[in-house]
Amino acid sequence: MCGIVGYIGESKAKGLVIDGLKRLEYRGYDSAGIAICIDGKIEIKKEKGKIENLEKIIGDPAFDGNVAIGHTRWATHGVPSATNAHPHRSMSGKIAVVHNGIIENYEEIREELKGSGVKFLSETDTEVIAQLIGSLYDGDLLVAVRKAVARFRGAYAIGVVASDEPDRIVAVRKDAPLIVGLGKDGNFISSDVPAILKQTRDVYFINNDETVLLTKDEVKIFDDDGNPVTHQVQHIDWDVNSAEKGGYDHFMIKEINEQPKGIYDTLHQRLQDDGSIKLDGISLTKEDIENISKIYIVACGTAYHAGIVGKYIIEKIVKIPVEVDIASEFRYRDSFVDEHTLFIAISQSGETLDTLEALREAKRKGARVLSVVNVVGSSVARESDDVFYTWAGPEIAVASTKAYTTQLVCMYLIALYMASHKGNIDKAYYDKIVNGLKEIPDKLSRLLEKQADIGKIAKKYYGWDKIFFVGRGQDVGVSYEGALKLKEISYINAYAIAAGELKHGTIALMDDHTLVIALATQDGLFEKMISNIEEITAREAHVMGLAKESNTKIGKFVEDEIYIPDCIDELTPLLSVVPLQIFAYYVAKERGCDIDKPKNLAKSVTVE
Ligand code: AGP
Repeated sequence: MCGIVGYIGESKAKGLVIDGLKRLEYRGYDSAGIAICIDGKIEIKKEKGKIENLEKIIGDPAFDGNVAIGHTRWATHGVPSATNAHPHRSMSGKIAVVHNGIIENYEEIREELKGSGVKFLSETDTEVIAQLIGSLYDGDLLVAVRKAVARFRGAYAIGVVASDEPDRIVAVRKDAPLIVGLGKDGNFISSDVPAILKQTRDVYFINNDETVLLTKDEVKIFDDDGNPVTHQVQHIDWDVNSAEKGGYDHFMIKEINEQPKGIYDTLHQRLQDDGSIKLDGISLTKEDIENISKIYIVACGTAYHAGIVGKYIIEKIVKIPVEVDIASEFRYRDSFVDEHTLFIAISQSGETLDTLEALREAKRKGARVLSVVNVVGSSVARESDDVFYTWAGPEIAVASTKAYTTQLVCMYLIALYMASHKGNIDKAYYDKIVNGLKEIPDKLSRLLEKQADIGKIAKKYYGWDKIFFVGRGQDVGVSYEGALKLKEISYINAYAIAAGELKHGTIALMDDHTLVIALATQDGLFEKMISNIEEITAREAHVMGLAKESNTKIGKFVEDEIYIPDCIDELTPLLSVVPLQIFAYYVAKERGCDIDKPKNLAKSVTVE
């Protein structure tokens, strides 16, 4: 997520804002910038890369003032660059804006402004904000901002300054965090508490659709209708370290809990009101899709596990054969890739060298390359023909969670998009999946309310060293992901296997010191899974069952049970993986492991 920091007061603003931006670095970013009101003008400096790069160009003491807004950008629209970095200014030069979030209808507003002669310098939705405010500005910044915001659809936290009104900052919040810090000689705006903790622990948490008018002595807050509202001052007693995690103990559990939002953000931008799917950044036409006779999904680790689930989804919905392969092996098979192949590369970081090399091999063989990536402008994205961005936001913990579930969302959307273009999907079935997808964020939020119960089960088993994950159908790929999560953060030698395969050898390992986590979410395979569970318990192993809420029958056969909200079989992976993530987290926590930075692991593996 992007980071916003603003200051207005008696002190010099540059140092306070840059220090605040540095305390937001944990959020992940690819460029940074600052705007300062100086002698009736707005001066802006911004740079690609880390804040140190920005500091190299803002050293001049004359580049300072008492009002400034700064920003660290996590690219969503437009590649990381100095041009696309914030702050953005209006063509008049009178308005500067920093923004966190996504303006969904920015393109239509941009076209409208272009039609009235506005010249744009960047590809960003944020510049549209600055230009619209600039076009509406007639000497009252608060009025111009409120008029502009009335046009926006999407999620945003915005900070604005005007050269003609250097005694104020205006800020607005809708579905993206914004706080006000009450300093001793001035006031702050920020995306998050860590940015201002060094200056003040007294803050206002701004609510949705509220607008803030900040001067050095006063903070005024208005509701959506422009009526003044009062807020209680909150005193923050977090230490800085826990503040970066929003009060959570680790980034991993924070990111697990961000999944409803990540899924919502990745979904709703693409699902149109009429149920059709608009895939920005993807130019696959009906003819292209009819030319595809085979799909390869190639990735590593968790991204590969998303591909396994993706195979089931795409084959079932699109009726095209799908091969799934781990990227480090793909190049050494004489794969049947040609100009009729769609090659889907999945990568959270977009920098995994195994995946990048596999992608290059597929291109050499004539495939059309579509990548599913979380980092805008990353190498995998740049070398693909089409890019489907997950909007999970920066994933800090090495163990991937929210990237995985948003990758799954992309699998569903790609499948629905292709099937609807091929014209081989029944409308009722299409609608059933689309409507089911829309319900997932709320169902996942409900499931997350039970995370403490899963923590209790983890307390029973955190000392065990033989833990298996088994399932059938869709549950097999999710079992692999559950095992990897447990392995990489608790260092327990966890193992995943298709339940039907157990009897062909592995069941020999079952004994009284074995825990088997049995996924039984597929209605059509539920009874078979009950039989597998009975085979396992007959060998004295302990079983934790995971099933839909409507299948409590499983409780009679297992020692512990976890239920996920009911949904159609196709969509269960979006829910069933989360209890496994939470289980792994609490086991590792009980074992005192370094959860966010596990030993021997890197967040992005850029070696072969
Ligand atoms: C997942 O928890 C691991 N950190 C690892 O398996 C990761 O998924 C894999 O290295 C692929 O990374 P990518 O998605 O950035 O390409």
